[in-house]
Amino acid sequence: MAPISQYLLSDNAVVQNDQLVVGGISVSDLVAEYGSPLFIYDEDHVRARCEEAVSVFGSHATYASKAFSCRYMAKLVTDCGMGIDVATGGELEIALAAGVDPATITFHGNNKSLQELERSVNVGVGKIVIDSFDELERLEYLHSQNLSTVPNVLIRVTPGIKAETHDYVATGQDDSKFGLTVSTGDAKVCIDKADASPAVNLLGIHAHIGSQVFVVESFVKALRVLAEIAEPYDFDEIIIGGGIGVPYIDGERAPSITEWATTVRDEAKKLGIKAAIGIEPGRSIVAAAGITAYTVGTIKKVPGVRNFVAVDGGMSDNPRPIMYDSGYEAFCPNSMSDPRELTANVVGKHCESGDIIVVDAQLPKSISVGDLLVTPVTGAYGYGMASNYNGVPRPAVVFVSKGEAKLVRRRETIEDLLATDIF
Ligand SMILES: Cc1ncc(COP(=O)(O)O)c(C=O)c1O
Repeated sequence: MAPISQYLLSDNAVVQNDQLVVGGISVSDLVAEYGSPLFIYDEDHVRARCEEAVSVFGSHATYASKAFSCRYMAKLVTDCGMGIDVATGGELEIALAAGVDPATITFHGNNKSLQELERSVNVGVGKIVIDSFDELERLEYLHSQNLSTVPNVLIRVTPGIKAETHDYVATGQDDSKFGLTVSTGDAKVCIDKADASPAVNLLGIHAHIGSQVFVVESFVKALRVLAEIAEPYDFDEIIIGGGIGVPYIDGERAPSITEWATTVRDEAKKLGIKAAIGIEPGRSIVAAAGITAYTVGTIKKVPGVRNFVAVDGGMSDNPRPIMYDSGYEAFCPNSMSDPRELTANVVGKHCESGDIIVVDAQLPKSISVGDLLVTPVTGAYGYGMASNYNGVPRPAVVFVSKGEAKLVRRRETIEDLLATDIF
């Protein structure tokens, strides 16, 4: 197998002296400084994707911070002109702690508590996306308690579009926990209630059909449903969600943010939609910006059965393979030109046979204990979904740009693990 394809690497990843260099610093130098495993982000790649989204939608382009969130990231994306979407009170506090203007924040989630809603109204978040009748009632209750600010809201509707993606990240079909269903009439009832309610200022509607979607036509279909619902109203904004996919493995291709965004924008024009169209990409902004560097700890060969290369992380820093059967590639960043002729499962250090990071990875035959191993395209839903399973501290996260590295999340320690453990 040939060396790793350049298109699976970030914009500023190059090979120098057979080593992978990201943002001007080699992976091995970064690991020497910050330890292993390590999440490495190409900062200028993130910036370029944000600018791409903003170039089509301006401030109606919002970064879905669930993909990867920390204060540095929140500041970076909002400095690029994007808004920021948060799905819980915790993500809200990260954005606020980064100094993000609350007016640029959109508050999402399918079960916002009274406390989360109260906090978001009090700090003046720009938009709350109402996901259920219950949430509208909670906002009305808060209003009745003399909460003087009337928040801007959108109603999240479920358009009945099944995106072609893993079932766990498909959200636009009727059989979904998210949003108000269009086909049952609930969406219209909730829109009318919100429209008539003095407790909220209804800006428009929202839909998110799923994540890791490759087919742009699915968004077009969703937009047509939204246009129909919106027709009798004079909405300011219609948000089509996030969800455009990214390639994770060799041979996979996905539309660019520009292709996706311009198709959506052009369809909106054709449909005569007057409201501003908003998008909320997460994965497409940050996935390919990130790689994870691990160190090989053990190698097990079972002739005629399988080879296993075990690294010092696993499902605790990347649960996507075990959750969604997601595919990844792997390579050795210190021998980039070596043919990848060994087939092996890259596995983690957790007590699960399903703790597999890459099934049938292609690696150099010379791979040995102590070598670095990289999985590319781990910038989205990796660190964000990380856990402490088996008492494994989360890795550090470093952003790199033009030869400068910035530690944005320090490695967790055993003290961190014990901090909430009362004994
Ligand atoms: C409401 C909403 N918006 C945006 C996103 C971001 O999706 P993606 O990371 O696939 O672009 C999600 C992801 O689940 C979401 O639920």
